[in-house]
Amino acid sequence: MTSNNNVKMEDKIITLAAIMKKSKNIMILTGAGMDTESNIPDFRSRSGWWRNIDPREVATREALKNNYSLFHDFYSYRIKKLFDVNPHKGHYVLAKFEEQGIINSIATQNVSGLHRKAGSKEVYELHGNINIVNCDDCKSDEDITNFLNRGSCEKCNSEFLRPRVILFGESLPEEVWSKTLSNLNKIDLLIVIGTSLAVYPVNELPRMFNGFKVYINNEESLNYNYFDLTIIGKAKDILIKLDEEISKSS
Ligand code: APR
Ligand code: ZN
Repeated sequence: MTSNNNVKMEDKIITLAAIMKKSKNIMILTGAGMDTESNIPDFRSRSGWWRNIDPREVATREALKNNYSLFHDFYSYRIKKLFDVNPHKGHYVLAKFEEQGIINSIATQNVSGLHRKAGSKEVYELHGNINIVNCDDCKSDEDITNFLNRGSCEKCNSEFLRPRVILFGESLPEEVWSKTLSNLNKIDLLIVIGTSLAVYPVNELPRMFNGFKVYINNEESLNYNYFDLTIIGKAKDILIKLDEEISKSS
């Protein structure tokens, strides 16, 4: 016995599979909801980071410069938590879709690196990657262990080592942002997975895109009625079903 919602979800997945098969160039946009089933908390849902921590205290340049201990605690805790985290089946499905030529690229707000770990190649890490560490002063690449041990920069001796993640108020990495923007004129389908679309400028992308756009999320979001298709459910579950549907009809 399937509830009305399930029947609706199944039908929508069949519809999406058909649209994907007809599309020539597909970009996926992911957020933290893509990683929660790999045990990485997201930010704004009930169990998200920002439910207990004020992002201004830890994820801004002020925090980096004026409250380095808390900044360092927050990011080293997140880095250590990633040590035993792996991509889930949904990440592998997206990597398989790229290999099969079904999708062309993934723009992600996630800093975990799980898309690449699952084998996806064309990945635009719009908010950086937490597993890479730089000196905030001389920008040199630094060893992550040195950061975790609260060491100083090996080049200029600065204490301000930081993961290469985009802090609130910092601009996005130029190259991946312009690639993502130029893709908006090349793709014919944008699939947005697991993001509240709360953060500028990434949250502008779906509105800037004139083609068919799909929103996959496990929470209804009222102000996203500009999507052509919305599938409410868990990212991993939906991607597995989508893969089954596409393999059936190939
Ligand atoms: N499947 C589908 N959706 C999910 C799942 C899941 N398993 N788990 C959570 N979600 C949904 C949540 O309901 C929420 O709507 O994913 C969305 C995640 O939204 P946020 O927590 O706001 O994360 P995100 O949109 O990626 O945040 C963007 O904000 O703090 C900054 O830099 C940080 O990159 C992050 C940016
Ligand atoms: Zn330095």
